[in-house]
Amino acid sequence: MADGRHQGALGAVYEAKRPEEIAALYDGWSETYDHEMAVAGYRHPSICLALLARHLPRGAEPLLDAGAGTGLIGEWLGIMGYPHVEALDISEGMLAQAARKGVYKALHRLALGGPLPFADGHFAGIVSAGVFTSGHVGIEGLDELLRICRPGGVLVLTVKNTLWDGGFSDRIAELEGQGVLTRVEETEPYVSMPGETGTVPSRGLVLRRS
Ligand SMILES: C[S@@+](CC[C@H](N)C(=O)[O-])C[C@H]1O[C@@H](n2cnc3c(N)ncnc32)[C@H](O)[C@@H]1O
Repeated sequence: MADGRHQGALGAVYEAKRPEEIAALYDGWSETYDHEMAVAGYRHPSICLALLARHLPRGAEPLLDAGAGTGLIGEWLGIMGYPHVEALDISEGMLAQAARKGVYKALHRLALGGPLPFADGHFAGIVSAGVFTSGHVGIEGLDELLRICRPGGVLVLTVKNTLWDGGFSDRIAELEGQGVLTRVEETEPYVSMPGETGTVPSRGLVLRRS
């Protein structure tokens, strides 16, 4: 397997090869996702929330939850003082679950990795938890997120070690060198699901758009 020894829904999504495939897999997983991730001790949403709150002032808006899934982060962003958050995801089923929580101002069914229909610098902050990972979105998804993040705004994301070592780290260094962004914070690699065996660690990353 591409990423440890995961079974069932998790193993399948890590091995997805095409965007339509991953959307269909998440559609089928959407109703039980929150429960299964809670059982697995899923950490990315809490880590991203903590990083965002540390680097983006209360009240900043609008925010984009890129790869929002069922809205595990959106549930907390409003409570933390970010009044306008929009969700983007490739899976209609995941977005339907997010919609039920009533915490997003808009839901966008779109694919990361290609052009996005938002103006340059539109969002004050972007968070993307558990999306830059095996079988999901690679480095090709980063440039558009940077384009739609306003100067001075932050992009908080998690990146799985396999992607990090496979070119992500080099690209971040290159963008830093070009003055496009500043790497504000980078966590130590951590296991995102302690309840699962064989999970490849990820890191949390905070990038500030120049
Ligand atoms: C592990 S889930 C994370 C969801 C949410 N951020 C969380 O932490 O619970 C990954 C999400 O990324 C979405 N996704 C995968 N590939 C995508 C793509 N190319 N564009 C947009 N969303 C994508 C999936 O549909 C899924 O909802």
